[in-house]
Amino acid sequence: MILFKRIKFKNFLSSGNTPTEINFAEVPTTLIVGTNGSGKSTMLDALCFVLFNKAFRKIIKNQLINSTNEKECLVEIEFNISDKEYKVIRGIKPNIFEIWIDGVLQNQVAASNDQQKYLEDTILKLNYKSFTQIVILGSASFVPFMQLSAAHRREVVEDLLDIKIFSTMNSILKEKIRNSNEKIKEFTLLEKSTDEKILMQTDFIEELEKRGKENIEKKQNKIQELFDLEVSVSDEIDVMQKKVVSLNSQLEEFSDAAIKLKKLTSLKGKIQQKVISINEEHKFFNENSVCPTCKQSIEEDFRSNKVNEIETNSKDLKEGYVELEKTIEDEEKREEQFIQISREISRLNNEISKDNICISNYRKNIKELQNEIETITEQFENRNIETEKLKSLYKEKEDNFKKKSKYKETVNYFDFAQLLMKDGGVKSKIIQKYIPLMNQQINKYLQMMEFYINFTLDDEFKEQIKSPIHEDFSYESFSEGEKMRINLAILFTWREIARMKNSISTNLLILDEVFDSSLDNTGTDYFTKIIKYVIKDTNVFVISHKTDELIDKFDKIIMFEKVKGFSKIHA
Ligand SMILES: Nc1ncnc2c1ncn2[C@@H]1O[C@H](COP(=O)(O)OP(=O)(O)OP(=O)(O)O)[C@@H](O)[C@H]1O
Ligand SMILES: [Mg+2]
Repeated sequence: MILFKRIKFKNFLSSGNTPTEINFAEVPTTLIVGTNGSGKSTMLDALCFVLFNKAFRKIIKNQLINSTNEKECLVEIEFNISDKEYKVIRGIKPNIFEIWIDGVLQNQVAASNDQQKYLEDTILKLNYKSFTQIVILGSASFVPFMQLSAAHRREVVEDLLDIKIFSTMNSILKEKIRNSNEKIKEFTLLEKSTDEKILMQTDFIEELEKRGKENIEKKQNKIQELFDLEVSVSDEIDVMQKKVVSLNSQLEEFSDAAIKLKKLTSLKGKIQQKVISINEEHKFFNENSVCPTCKQSIEEDFRSNKVNEIETNSKDLKEGYVELEKTIEDEEKREEQFIQISREISRLNNEISKDNICISNYRKNIKELQNEIETITEQFENRNIETEKLKSLYKEKEDNFKKKSKYKETVNYFDFAQLLMKDGGVKSKIIQKYIPLMNQQINKYLQMMEFYINFTLDDEFKEQIKSPIHEDFSYESFSEGEKMRINLAILFTWREIARMKNSISTNLLILDEVFDSSLDNTGTDYFTKIIKYVIKDTNVFVISHKTDELIDKFDKIIMFEKVKGFSKIHA
């Protein structure tokens, strides 16, 4: 409960430099009187201004400063909540906004807006709308509960029942749901991109495997081909080498042909020389019977013997020569064979060396291919790295899914919680619980004012009125005085509920000419009785011009007057 103790203001509207001070907690009922314009309603504006930073009436901030002094407009209010003492000071020219708790000035660094929110939400737990429904009612701007919109009626009751928290929770939940949905969206996008990456990586690995296998197979086939070639070429070499061996052994047979031929040729030359000398000797002995040199005669016998002997020799020599020429011819043939075999051997050796070059080329190629296979195999091993990458992508996907599911789960919870926080949820259950009590209270006060109707509010705060005369009446159907009775009954009910709930309960009730125009004498009578005897723990301030009727019904009278253009309380 907020216990308002006192308010003090100066240079506020019609008040001047001398502060006006009103003690709220002094007596239960106070009547405030004064002529028009004496400054009575000013205290309502001062009260609203200091607490909510705006006047009760629609007066803009700058016009709140006293127009004569034009500065140092200041309002101070003191109140207690639980066992804490609060003081709020607000001023214009200079601008001041201070909150003091138990004599300690609260943090001034925070933005003024935050400080105001702190004052309303945390300290007072009361906003302007509820304050002007439950604490101060002024004829100038009081909109009876029954004339508020459905949303405003609900707002006032929610404040009253201290269930605004559900609305706050609802907005917090909304924010959280929005954030979670954003996260879900993020994860969905992430999921999509991970899926794409997985697809690409799978294709890449498949391609790697396919290409790798195909390549290795091709290269292995090529190696096999080269091996086969190598084998066949080696076989050829083998055959040729065997041939060379056999040719070499054949060659041996003819290896002496050249030497022999040389010897025979030289023998042939010698024999030819011999034939010439024998022919000359034959000619000499044939033609000469005297020695041409010593002129001695040659004996005929000797000469004929000699000729015969020479002819026999010549004949032998000729036969030998023919034989020799045949032998030479044979040897020449052998030598020819030797040359041919030698040529064949060197041709074969040539072929062998060519084939060997081929074989070494094949081997070189095979080596190269094997190296290439090794590289591809290495890439294959790299495929394991790629597979690992794929695995980690799947893991990423799973993690995303888990996180997303968690957010989805949270959203589900929040959705459910929000369902409870919504107007139709827990709040409406609480309101439903209080509606019968509210109706009971309203009717109690109506009866106290001898207004015998059956007034009920439904869940949506729509009235249903039954009177002995009229079956189905609405608020608007009643006279102004009757409406005022309903307004007062509702006001008292709200205060009663607030007191019970200890929500927006305060000691203060200010009524500014609320019923002056509409309530008749009996109505006013009932009202004063109610505030005096029924309403508990309240300091009621009634501003009224019905001085004569009311003056003896209040514990204290405060009279405002205007002196030298400034409002003040008559001492
Ligand atoms: N900024 C201001 N500076 C000085 N006086 C102002 C200022 N604004 C309003 N006033 C005057 O303050 C006076 C007090 O007004 P207030 O509404 O408090 O009178 P009241 O006593 O409630 O009168 P009523 O009985 O007619 O309701 C009025 O005369 C008004 O013209
Ligand atoms: Mg007034």
